[in-house]
Amino acid sequence: MSEIWALGAESVITRTERWGRPLIVKTRVKKPYLHPEIDEALRRQRTARECRMLSFARRLGVPTPAVYAVDRSTYSITMDLIDGKQLKEFANDMPDSRLETMCFEFGRLLGLLHRGKVVHGDPTTSNVIVDNRGKLWIVDFGLAEWNATIEMMGVDLHLVRRALETTHWDRQTLMLKATIEGYSSIMGNETEEVLSRMDEIRERGRYH
Ligand SMILES: Nc1ncnc2c1ncn2[C@@H]1O[C@H](COP(=O)(O)OP(=O)(O)O)[C@@H](O)[C@H]1O
Ligand SMILES: [Mg+2]
Repeated sequence: MSEIWALGAESVITRTERWGRPLIVKTRVKKPYLHPEIDEALRRQRTARECRMLSFARRLGVPTPAVYAVDRSTYSITMDLIDGKQLKEFANDMPDSRLETMCFEFGRLLGLLHRGKVVHGDPTTSNVIVDNRGKLWIVDFGLAEWNATIEMMGVDLHLVRRALETTHWDRQTLMLKATIEGYSSIMGNETEEVLSRMDEIRERGRYH
């Protein structure tokens, strides 16, 4: 038996159980507005990429769910279920100090990825799960990339800022500040360069 656990932007997440442990199956569903061949190629590529990157990120010290199976014909990945809530949901009713701690950790995990030359590609607060012990996990690696340049890291941080602005407009200042502090605790001297690239990317977007 499987039940729908969550709906993503491009996938359906069902909860299931195997070997006595709770798992989820993430299935990338067909997008009716895409040409079938393009749709299949994208689903195939993102499924493969997500599997590789979930493991690679873990080796960099970023908590990610372990993958148990990939089905290339249904574009689905079976992985550990992380029992918790999206960081996004926490941001509504969390005291400042706890929200700061969580965002610092989010930034620290992004820093670990970037230090390992990996960008996430969709670093929003929906793709961070806070488990029942308060530990942060990062999911949704279908758009992640290796061999990241400063430009790619700048784009990643730009996406973080934009996500905070649109989803958490009332607490974005606090959240962004804590995220950047966490990020710079790992990236050190490199932080400035990525942050100024982030600003540059925003300016480019304004005038084009
Ligand atoms: N391993 C997991 N354990 C628990 N919840 C998950 C897991 N993976 C995804 N989710 C939940 O499902 C949502 C959608 O998954 P996600 O991988 O982000 O799909 P999409 O690529 O469609 O956005 C996530 O925001 C998260 O809340
Ligand atoms: Mg997602």
